[in-house]
Amino acid sequence: MSTPPQRVGIVGFGQRASLWQYAHRPDDATRPSAVVAVCDPSPRGRDRARAALPDALLTADLDEFLAHDLDAVLVLTPDFAHYPVALRTLEAGIATFCEKPLGITVAECDEMLETARRTGTRLYVGHNMRHMPVIVAMREAILAGAIGEVKAVWCRHFVSTGGDYYFKDWHAERSKSTSLLLQKGAHDIDVMHWLAGGYSTRVAAMGDLAVYGDIESRRDNSDRYMREWYSRDTWPPTTQHDLNPVIDVEDISMMTMTLDNGVLASYQQCHFTPDYWRNYTVIGTAGRLENLGDRPGDTIHVWNTRSDNFGEPDQVITIADAEGSHGGADPLLIAEFLRFAREGGRTQTSPVAARQAVAAGCVAADSLRSDGGAREVPALDPGLVAYFENFQACG
Ligand SMILES: NC(=O)c1ccc[n+]([C@@H]2O[C@H](COP(=O)([O-])OP(=O)(O)OC[C@H]3O[C@@H](n4cnc5c(N)ncnc54)[C@H](O)[C@@H]3O)[C@@H](O)[C@H]2O)c1
Repeated sequence: MSTPPQRVGIVGFGQRASLWQYAHRPDDATRPSAVVAVCDPSPRGRDRARAALPDALLTADLDEFLAHDLDAVLVLTPDFAHYPVALRTLEAGIATFCEKPLGITVAECDEMLETARRTGTRLYVGHNMRHMPVIVAMREAILAGAIGEVKAVWCRHFVSTGGDYYFKDWHAERSKSTSLLLQKGAHDIDVMHWLAGGYSTRVAAMGDLAVYGDIESRRDNSDRYMREWYSRDTWPPTTQHDLNPVIDVEDISMMTMTLDNGVLASYQQCHFTPDYWRNYTVIGTAGRLENLGDRPGDTIHVWNTRSDNFGEPDQVITIADAEGSHGGADPLLIAEFLRFAREGGRTQTSPVAARQAVAAGCVAADSLRSDGGAREVPALDPGLVAYFENFQACG
């Protein structure tokens, strides 16, 4: 007899809901799954869902959605709604995929982890970069000893799409995203933690609203989605237009971190560069590596013999090609979540790591908005760490 499809629901059907295509596999021979319900308060969100999934229940009512006998839920709402929605899905006992960042405050994250443990409901956080070929290859090289013991991780994040992606809607408001150091940076902070094998305990930051705050052209864009206003032709960034009425997050920020294993890290994020990519540099006791580009076909260079000038790398790793969005990371992410929801077991992503990325980002936002001084990152309850490090299995 064939396995019945896993019943999947989606809350929030905006840009990121393109993940539905990886979750809706009713004809998969081994692990069929079907998106059978969508909840979105906006008629536009439900219209988008109707076009993609005409047979699914479409509702604005979370209670009606939760009563639809679901096995797993993807929470794809804006960041500020992750916490209230995921608390409900966890309380309802439905395995929950929460997009990153886990929450917009440390307290929200801690309560979400606590709720998952108390209810015994599986929680998974959508840190898709842990499935990106560039990151996986750098981590494999580090674990293979290519650069010795890691001592420093530096990341520079150039965001050419900043104006269109982050300054025309809810992302631009502190009350809805806290900070782009958290909103966007949660990915990179998590990756730096992962490559370094530790978590930030102390951080300091500085930042500014250097470009977009001066632009007078403003518009409430809540009647449209990002793809409807996005344009590659808007350049230079000072010619941006139709920005969100409220902008109180920074468009350039820099943070430094001390990790619990002694590794030092730094992160720079800029939202008005011409190019879009991330450069990670990892320095160990026996070499350093650096990615030059982060897409399939780009390369990771490893230097581990002495060369007093900028010399030829000792090893060049070509970033693998893969099918699907975000360099092939998204289909792997959803497949891992659905397998975890169904069977449990080990996962590449980690709710504890997701919380630690949010915590570092929140403390950094606090630092840069005051004196720029270093601050302690609040520790997570060791009982929760142990529970999640055991992949949410009891005993
Ligand atoms: N991991 C990644 O690579 C990645 C990429 C893009 C976005 N994201 C994350 O995905 C999430 C969604 O981003 P987006 O770009 O799709 O946003 P969006 O604004 O395009 O869409 C959000 C949708 O959620 C709906 N919504 C708002 N409040 C809701 C609520 N309380 N309950 C249900 N639905 C609600 C909105 O009506 C809208 O349709 C964000 O958390 C974002 O950070 C992650």
